[in-house]
Amino acid sequence: MNMLYQKRILIGVSGSIAAYKSAFLVRLLVKAGAEVKVVMTPDAEEFITPLTLATLSKHPVHSDFTEDKHNGTWVNHVDLGIWADVMLIAPATANTISKMVHGASNNLLLAVYLSAKCQIAVAPAMDLDMFKHESTQENLEALKVREHILIEPGTGELASGLVGKGRMAEPEEIMQALNDHFLAKAPFNGKKVVVTAGPTYEAIDAVRFIGNHSSGRMGMRIANEFSRKGAEVTLICGPTQLELQDPSVKRINIVSAADMKEQADHHFANSDIFVMSAAVADYRPKQQVQNKIKKSDQQLNIDLEPTDDILKGLGQAKKEGQLLIGFALETDNEVENARGKLARKNLDLIVLNSLNDDGAGFGHATNKISMLDRSNNLASFELKSKEKVAQDIVEKILTLCD
Ligand code: CTP
Repeated sequence: MNMLYQKRILIGVSGSIAAYKSAFLVRLLVKAGAEVKVVMTPDAEEFITPLTLATLSKHPVHSDFTEDKHNGTWVNHVDLGIWADVMLIAPATANTISKMVHGASNNLLLAVYLSAKCQIAVAPAMDLDMFKHESTQENLEALKVREHILIEPGTGELASGLVGKGRMAEPEEIMQALNDHFLAKAPFNGKKVVVTAGPTYEAIDAVRFIGNHSSGRMGMRIANEFSRKGAEVTLICGPTQLELQDPSVKRINIVSAADMKEQADHHFANSDIFVMSAAVADYRPKQQVQNKIKKSDQQLNIDLEPTDDILKGLGQAKKEGQLLIGFALETDNEVENARGKLARKNLDLIVLNSLNDDGAGFGHATNKISMLDRSNNLASFELKSKEKVAQDIVEKILTLCD
């Protein structure tokens, strides 16, 4: 499971031959969807150029406190530490480790370390005797006491030609250590979540359908947010142009309400949390014409029949410990109607989309919602980006989990 997606990782590179591996590490992290920034010690520039790391990380790389000496702009080391979810010092030389332990701040990397409030990870790299030395071992112990993640060096041939323990862990191992860290503290670790999103298309004939304006964006953002927080997520998605961002989310594409019901029923039994945010058609043509209906001067009537209420069916099948979340789109008596739907469909939470606000609902990048739970708690939110709305929804669902 990729927990690195959208994580902010600050890499501190110090002066070791292993700095060349930092380039691979940056590339792998960026490929996994992490946002990566790099600070270097001045000595590290002897081993790898800031240009290489800036190109791979897509961010400027700093090794100096000043950015532009003539105009007096400086690099705000405090901001870098606040920005990061993790600061990873890789490679960490014996010298940098010693200075970290003792609080020296004679370069930018150390100043960032001293002001960072995020989790610190350290991947040492040095010759075997330097690594074995009592002072290095004591320093590493001191970092463990500070609850830094220590990514042990590997054993093999070293730059000196000697063979032993001291070479920096491989980029893949470092990635794994960071991934494990994020997964261990992810609130939905071990939970199976299903989200439905988008419209359904109900065929009239071979080329025409009845659909709606849902883009699927809200459901996709919810799926992403659950995945970011460690859940194993399946997205059942109606026809949409939008692409999922998080590669960890498993996507199942469907077309009609009947397809969606089949997939929803199939995945519900095995889910801990089910979020029904799709805009499912309430009616479908009673008869589906196989070929294209030819135009004529006559009036054309299409008989419609109701589709199955998927959410209601899930509410009836719901077992102890499962959470079922529905959406409502109302124009009148919004809260009253939502309250009725919550009870009727046996939901744990209902998210009320407001149609009465500009910029909310179908087709917009923003949304304005209220949430009502079984204990009758009603919370109303401001107009926000759908990404932020998804965070609010997922945070609320977390409060409903035991
Ligand atoms: N829903 C569903 N199956 C349908 C129709 C809707 O599962 N055939 C789900 C939606 O995904 C949403 C919830 O039911 O989570 C509420 O949908 P909405 O259309 O607002 O409410 P309805 O119960 O269909 O009632 P009404 O249209 O009268 O408001």
